[in-house]
Amino acid sequence: MAILIDGKKISEEIKKELKLKIQEVKDKTGKVPGLVAILVGDNPASQLYVSSKSKACNEIGMNSKVEKLSSNISEEDLINIVNQYNHDDNYHGILVQLPLPGHISEQKIIETILPSKDVDGFHPVNVGNLVIGNDTFYPCTPYGIVELLKRYSIETKGKHVVVVGRSNIVGKPIANMLLQKKDGANAIVTICHSAAKDLNRYTKDADILIAAIGKENFITSDMVKEGVVVIDVGINRIEDKNSKKGYRIVGDVKFDEVEKVASYITPVPGGVGPMTIAMLLKNTFLAFIKSLEKNYGYIIN
Ligand code: GUN
Repeated sequence: MAILIDGKKISEEIKKELKLKIQEVKDKTGKVPGLVAILVGDNPASQLYVSSKSKACNEIGMNSKVEKLSSNISEEDLINIVNQYNHDDNYHGILVQLPLPGHISEQKIIETILPSKDVDGFHPVNVGNLVIGNDTFYPCTPYGIVELLKRYSIETKGKHVVVVGRSNIVGKPIANMLLQKKDGANAIVTICHSAAKDLNRYTKDADILIAAIGKENFITSDMVKEGVVVIDVGINRIEDKNSKKGYRIVGDVKFDEVEKVASYITPVPGGVGPMTIAMLLKNTFLAFIKSLEKNYGYIIN
């Protein structure tokens, strides 16, 4: 039976650590970090994510604001609003919740955010810095995965990591992060996707399997080897008449059978999900510290 990787517990630890640091900097400078989350339209999942992010900010003493905009907003107006926050010193991080309505180019909006405030790590400048191993903002979900592996002392050096999924938010950045010649990385990485003819051929060889496909219960026990470490990034809503909401959340991994062969596994919910929020807070804190250094010569130790 696999050991459960408790993302909820680790995320609480990270938030506690950040809360102390924020208080310490506030005592010295009178300043606190600020995050603005921009939400366009009324997608229920996006609304829930944004309100969770904002609540988490407040819990640890950060300033947070949710900028709610109509789904009819023009691309130009949204660009103007992002620019306004680029120049607002009260906000060190800017997050535009994705997906955006079809008439707005997500890429254009991402490229409008100043790289120094891009706490999602989606701007091409930050993506490029990640790929070449420079200091940057790591995208929050992959950053959370790396942190979970680290805090559970799961060795990545020389291990075969197989990532299933090639999104810009998870698949590509986690592969690039684990590939780096650094502590907590240094893995041999394979990225698989929907065009793979024989997916099992790759997944069966994984020492660490990262499932970021977006399809419920996709990874089954016959696809993995004994002792694999399984990281499930999926957040899929499935109908559940027994639940009050009428649905429940499941991952990309068929948990009940895979936990019997894995050595470690993340549950859904309570695995990677809470870590995404914790790492967003961490990135916002880092953006804040960098702005203090730049504007006031403040050095943290
Ligand atoms: N939509 C799904 N995941 C994310 C994320 O990590 N950041 C943003 N901005 N939007 C998302």
